Amino acid sequence: MSAARYAVIGHPVAHSLSPRIHQAFARQAGIELEYGSIDCPPEQLADQVAKFAGTGGRGLNVTLPHKRAAYGLCSELGPTAKRCGVVNTLARIDGGWRGHNTDGSGLVRDLTERRRQDLRGRKVLLIGAGGAAHGVAPALLDAGISALFIVNRTDARTDALADLLADPARVHPRYYADMDDLGPFDLIINATSIGHGDGGGEPVPLPGSMLTPRTDVVDLSYGRAAVGFLAWARAAGADRLFDGLGMLVEQAADSFRIWHGKRPYTDEVYGELRREFGSPLASA
Ligand code: ATR
Repeated sequence: MSAARYAVIGHPVAHSLSPRIHQAFARQAGIELEYGSIDCPPEQLADQVAKFAGTGGRGLNVTLPHKRAAYGLCSELGPTAKRCGVVNTLARIDGGWRGHNTDGSGLVRDLTERRRQDLRGRKVLLIGAGGAAHGVAPALLDAGISALFIVNRTDARTDALADLLADPARVHPRYYADMDDLGPFDLIINATSIGHGDGGGEPVPLPGSMLTPRTDVVDLSYGRAAVGFLAWARAAGADRLFDGLGMLVEQAADSFRIWHGKRPYTDEVYGELRREFGSPLASA
């Protein structure tokens, strides 16, 4: 019998670390699997996912720019995916796909377990309202933060995300223009794709008053894509800077558990990738 088939689907996807991470987890668990990558332009998503299922595919990790569209392909949704409105993990079920989202649990686990942060009672700024922001927002609220301010270039998407979260006591959509008045934050998260260069590279006009030296600043990207934002934060006085490498490994471990019933240990894979990528600003 041939090995079970899994893949990451995105566009572009060539540099995805997911195949490497999942193969390492599989070795650790003593499971034989094939894990590939599928480069798929948006208009071909449904066809490519169906084709993968037709050739025995059991599971997909979904990445940029497909997380929202993949939600629409699911015949069932896990509770987190239902709240997020986006999926990053598809698991084959009878005649269809069950959608999950592990981005938020991955981020929270990286912050609380690896970085030893206590998220309870923290005032958080989330920049962005796309797939990544939708994925992490519910988990941040569940982790007990006291306030979630959301800003995004397109205001309508800010409002849509705030509405979806349905927690008006803690969730505050704001305009870019109002950011001067928000005061300092405990945690600032860049969930935009600006660093990937698809938006012309216009920086977010963030006032330095948002930061204190005690502010934790996270970019959900890693490598070169995280450098611009984290360099801004360092120049504005923050020195607790994290990239998304830890979240990447943790969300992969949660996907692995959904598919294989067992959560792998992540420290070894994370350590290996961190040595390779260096500190978050190493590629500055
Ligand atoms: P992802 O899955 O990475 O979140 P996405 O759903 O395409 O990808 O969302 C991209 C996010 O980055 C959005 O919040 C987008 O803002 P808009 O909703 O206004 O499009 C944000 N973004 C991308 N390029 C940007 C830029 N140059 N300036 C500001 N925000 C940008």
